[in-house]
Amino acid sequence: MRQTDSVPIDARRRLRPAGIACGGDYNPEQWPEEVWAEDVALMKEAGVSLVTAGIFSWAKVEPRPGAYDFDWFDRVMDNLAGAGVAVCLATMTASPPPWLSRLHPEILPETADGRRMWPGGRQHYCPSSRVYREHAVRLVERLAARYADHPALEMWHIGNEYGCHTPMCWCDESAADFRRWLSERYGDVDALNDAWSTAFWAQRYESFDEVLPPRLAPTFPNPAQQLDFARFSDDALLQCYLAEKEVLRRITPDVPVTTNFIGVHKPVDAFRWAAEEDAVSVDVYQDPHDENTQVSAGFIFDVTRSARAGQPWMLLEQAPSAVNWRDRNGPKPPGRMRLWSWQAVAQGADAVLYFQWRQSRGGAEKYHSAMVPHGGTGTRVFREVSELGHELASVPRIAGTRSTADVALVLDWNSWWALELDSHPSTALNQMEIALAHYRPLFEAGVNCDVVPPDRDLSGYRLVIAPNLYLLKERDAERLTDFVRGGGHLLVSFFSGIVDDCDRVHSGGYPAPLREVLGLRVEEFWPLAEQDTVDVRHPDGTVSRADLWTEAVVPEGARAVAEFGSGPLAGQPAVTRHSFGEGQAWYVATRLAPEAMRALTDDVCRAASVSPVLPGLPEHVQATAREGDGGRFVFLLNHGREEAEIQLPEPMTDALAPGAIPADRLTLPAAGVAVLSKP
Ligand code: GAL
Repeated sequence: MRQTDSVPIDARRRLRPAGIACGGDYNPEQWPEEVWAEDVALMKEAGVSLVTAGIFSWAKVEPRPGAYDFDWFDRVMDNLAGAGVAVCLATMTASPPPWLSRLHPEILPETADGRRMWPGGRQHYCPSSRVYREHAVRLVERLAARYADHPALEMWHIGNEYGCHTPMCWCDESAADFRRWLSERYGDVDALNDAWSTAFWAQRYESFDEVLPPRLAPTFPNPAQQLDFARFSDDALLQCYLAEKEVLRRITPDVPVTTNFIGVHKPVDAFRWAAEEDAVSVDVYQDPHDENTQVSAGFIFDVTRSARAGQPWMLLEQAPSAVNWRDRNGPKPPGRMRLWSWQAVAQGADAVLYFQWRQSRGGAEKYHSAMVPHGGTGTRVFREVSELGHELASVPRIAGTRSTADVALVLDWNSWWALELDSHPSTALNQMEIALAHYRPLFEAGVNCDVVPPDRDLSGYRLVIAPNLYLLKERDAERLTDFVRGGGHLLVSFFSGIVDDCDRVHSGGYPAPLREVLGLRVEEFWPLAEQDTVDVRHPDGTVSRADLWTEAVVPEGARAVAEFGSGPLAGQPAVTRHSFGEGQAWYVATRLAPEAMRALTDDVCRAASVSPVLPGLPEHVQATAREGDGGRFVFLLNHGREEAEIQLPEPMTDALAPGAIPADRLTLPAAGVAVLSKP
């Protein structure tokens, strides 16, 4: 893979908004030019300091092959510059124009069963397509040269949500690219045969020419082939991004680049991509119909912040109110959009942007909310958006501050891809569900947490949590073992440490590379039927329920801290604890009910001397902290439906309540936010 340098955003031009940036996707091509002057006037009214523009402009700036019309876009950029609105300029390559797929139908992606995906939506390109990449790069050359010195240009927004609709392609060109990728990875076909265990089911290859992507097959395609195809597909998308980035670095070396992740998205390994960005950005659409939406969003925010080791990041898209793409699209009730925006800031964001500026009249997203709704500016949404824009601008000192965490939760895309393959003891294991089950108790307790890949330096953490780390390289297992040996605390959950990088079971009994540190072996997997639960008996005499999965654990130094109380493994360990070196390692052999998971997490945090940002938080109140040159800020966010009383350790002032006197007690209304600092 080609590597390009990556320069921290701090070392480049700062984002012009000297504080928390606010704005949205600006798509002026949807509107007659008369509207544009009103757009910038309203942007000022709404406190907009940054827009991301041009995302879907390819067909208008290049209406025919090689015939460019940037004049109209010059006027867009000039208007924005004139109003002092900075631009995160999109490279315009997210949706190829109709002429490109008409002249080159081979750019269209194909599914695993050989169906072609036609134009008419967006992102209808095969990530391996040379023709697509050549045309994209040619456009980016023009764009970069044209706007390199434009005063509005602040950042580059490469592509848009890579892999959102077309994460993988199984066409012949992808097949050829996959073979090239494999031959680079393995060198010779014998190494591939070994890595893919092709002795099984007579799959041995004589040459790379025989290898295909895992297309629709009569039964389970080779798992290692599927795993490598996930890696390859992620890499093919990354190569599209890097091809554009290379042009931008050459022409505008001082302008930072980003690309917006779509939440924590299985096809795109955010940790690998983030190393190629100057600032990480993400799109998060909290669901007003989901009462735990803040927890899953919180997890995404923590992944995003951790992807570049705590560097402030950007919420590049959220909805001002409803979306259009769920089955039932509830609007955000009053105050929730503000709350969820502050949540992003509380978890490290320095920018809060929306999709989109002005609500479309036509097209697939006309029922998606926008900052300027169909009803215009006399609407609740415009009022809330404008109030928030000014509120965010009122606390500029937050920008640039960072949070620290004593806890790291391990997430590995390779393991995620492998865990969710078919032909497993249970196909009900879902990486995100398990990760969230381990994340939620920390979130609820107000414990700051980073989310890290398994090869990240763990020395600064007191506690590391590894939920379902199914695929684990020997050297990463050694690092976890050394972490505990040196005094760290480790919590590992079931079906972890099972296979190597090629999805081959580690020899030596499950979970071979973690047996020493955990002080146990797992003799047999015992997944449960869909509706089944088992009892778990805790040392204090209480009984909780568990479901999904159980395992026959044989302690080899670890002691049981909870046992199965019913089912085929009754009397055997369900949770164990092992003193190892200077530290402790816990193992959870089932999926505990949320209350039991919370109690266990609290115990483990206590043992590891991990404290929450504030002790004794009321239910549904989130607490985080950010610190830096601007000072130390404690964020309190009430995600509940009732007001909450919070006791503070010392008198503090709320930056969002100007004029309020310092107090050591605080009443936070439902959906309320406080940004506290010492007077
Ligand atoms: C994102 C996308 C935007 C818009 C938005 C609607 O996935 O980047 O262009 O479609 O969703 O929620």
